[in-house]
Amino acid sequence: MIEARGLTKRYGDVVAVDDVSFQIGKGEVVGFLGPNGAGKTTTMRMLTGFVPPTDGTAVIAGHDIFTDPIAARRAIGYLPETPPLYPEMTVESYVAYVAKINDVARGKRKPAVARALERCGLADVRRRVIGTLSKGYRQRVGLAQAIVHVPPVLILDEPTVGLDPIQVREIRQLISDLASPEQGESQHTVVLSTHILPEVEAICRRVILVNEGRKVIDKPLSELTAGGMTLDEVFVREIMKEAPAEQAAS
Ligand SMILES: Nc1ncnc2c1ncn2[C@@H]1O[C@H](COP(=O)(O)OP(=O)(O)O)[C@@H](O)[C@H]1O
Ligand SMILES: [Mg+2]
Repeated sequence: MIEARGLTKRYGDVVAVDDVSFQIGKGEVVGFLGPNGAGKTTTMRMLTGFVPPTDGTAVIAGHDIFTDPIAARRAIGYLPETPPLYPEMTVESYVAYVAKINDVARGKRKPAVARALERCGLADVRRRVIGTLSKGYRQRVGLAQAIVHVPPVLILDEPTVGLDPIQVREIRQLISDLASPEQGESQHTVVLSTHILPEVEAICRRVILVNEGRKVIDKPLSELTAGGMTLDEVFVREIMKEAPAEQAAS
């Protein structure tokens, strides 16, 4: 469903993403893990067509991001690191607007919006102005706009950052629900970036760990922790392995 082939992004001398390849099948829920600056956001922005790779390409639901960019983009629901919410719009009108720009047919927009709001627990606040909502609810709006066109692939960039513990639990539950199919719907493929390890343990079944732009681990979560190590220990070990000795000692 998602295939990254040697994705590389350079900004001047900085190699933000360095020859990253992976394949993610239908219905998989993958944690894209790494410390700050590892290249998670840049990789997601390449997959979603927001920045062009310097090298490599990606294929989303069979559509190459270079040769078939519109279809590739349409197959993705994307929650960016900072979602472009319009604070003066109501929840419903904003999600309807996103449905329109994602080419949901006019006659199908109303039910699509209602369904997205329902799935994200927003039905009761649909007439509220986004700017008056709590951060947790604004993040729900971000998820609703990502799923309104029923994309087969969901790409979520640090979906719980900045939320309080209750909101974090609610958003994690919501993502788990979105990852499991509703009746009559096919399963979403979900990639979620985070540097919060319990988040991965709560939601994901597979882990891709990146560090300094490179993929360093790509394994089922169960296999990573099978040796008795916690994900936390695995993470620290892999990251420190890459650090120069003097840096690791300081
Ligand atoms: N637009 C940009 N211009 C220059 N450098 C960038 C840009 N975007 C990201 N970077 C650099 O690329 C690296 C990876 O960043 P990013 O993908 O945001 O990492 P992460 O999301 O894992 O924290 C960092 O060193 C960051 O400073
Ligand atoms: Mg990031």
